Amino acid sequence: MMKHGDIVPPNRFRDDFAPLRKEDPVAYLDNACTTMRPDSVVDEINSYYTVTPGCAGRSPHRWGNSVTHKLVQSRGLISKFIGATTDEIIFTLNSTFAINQVAHGIKWEKDDVVLTTDKEHNSNLVPWLQLENKGLIKHSFVHSNDDNTFDLEAFEEKCSTIGKNLRLVAVPQVSNLDGVTNPVKEITKIAHDYDAEILVDSAQGVPHNKVDVRQLDCDYLTFSLHKMLGPSGIGVLYGKEECLANLDTISGGGKTVSNISDHDVQFLKPPAKFEGGSSNYAGIIGAKAAVEYLQSVDFEWLRSHEVRLNEIITDGVKDIEEVSIIGPDSARLRGGMTSITVDDIDVYDLSIILDEAGSIMVRSGYHCVNSWFNSKDIAGGSLRTSVYLYNTEEEARQFVDLFEEAVNALR
Ligand code: ALA
Repeated sequence: MMKHGDIVPPNRFRDDFAPLRKEDPVAYLDNACTTMRPDSVVDEINSYYTVTPGCAGRSPHRWGNSVTHKLVQSRGLISKFIGATTDEIIFTLNSTFAINQVAHGIKWEKDDVVLTTDKEHNSNLVPWLQLENKGLIKHSFVHSNDDNTFDLEAFEEKCSTIGKNLRLVAVPQVSNLDGVTNPVKEITKIAHDYDAEILVDSAQGVPHNKVDVRQLDCDYLTFSLHKMLGPSGIGVLYGKEECLANLDTISGGGKTVSNISDHDVQFLKPPAKFEGGSSNYAGIIGAKAAVEYLQSVDFEWLRSHEVRLNEIITDGVKDIEEVSIIGPDSARLRGGMTSITVDDIDVYDLSIILDEAGSIMVRSGYHCVNSWFNSKDIAGGSLRTSVYLYNTEEEARQFVDLFEEAVNALR
């Protein structure tokens, strides 16, 4: 594995990933959906099942103790990784569950408003619509600029119009639709000026950026480990201690209570109160291995690597007739993501050709941002490429060549 701070060619990473050691590996350009996992993560997951398959915080035998110890270590490492304290890190199923925990845990008051962007992943839209449909909140959204970047002026105006009823701002750090990064620090400052709390959906943020929750000053932040080399089915909800103290749990159950009678229950302090029932122990242990791996990656290098590959993709497709890129023209403003539509061609067909003819894997469809596509009347969604640390310039070029060929073949 790389040493901290090393800047080496991306193929050094590739040796750590079993699917990439195959003789004829695929070009995997679907990392915004989920990433591959290095051996160290797979080994840790396996070791839970094969060496110490116990329950944490319950049984005092050596398997139980070992898992308890590993959970404490994992929480400790993850809290340091994002600049939080251990009491502020709640293990969840994924980012979606984390957002739902906040949505269904806040004690809403009459006329409370939740403000989001106009291009939300369903994870950061459905919970608010559910609450609105129950009459518990009103949901409002701020329109993006014409190039799909965040409009800070429109946001501030919206906050001012909503005024004292603005209870929560919930925005993605990086959009999974087009890769645009939102100015989360500035958004947070404005939200706080209006006495609102802020939730940052960092599912596409933490995997690609050095995130420090104290520096951002956000109240809640959510992410999923499977988008950052970790196991599926494990996510994190970060919440400031004072926010978590006021949040109701939606996972009341085993290991969440300090005292209980037939008619009354007192909850333990966070994070225990939010982690009812047995957990995804293999996932939490694998999460630690994923974060350890990422600690060996220079995030500045990662950013420039992703942009370099994205520039190859952008330059290669932008002038093809009837092709449009969602969001800003500059790859630099879209990190490692390019979301493409092609007039009169089904992007699903394109993605199948890319896979079957060239072993190039991309995602096509609505990327769970259906509301944005519906509002623009774009049927079928887009074809999205998203790169990560193990991708290469060669893979980006292969994509461009085959993409153009496939578009011409379907015309
Ligand atoms: N949210 C994930 C994506 O954008 C699943 O693909």
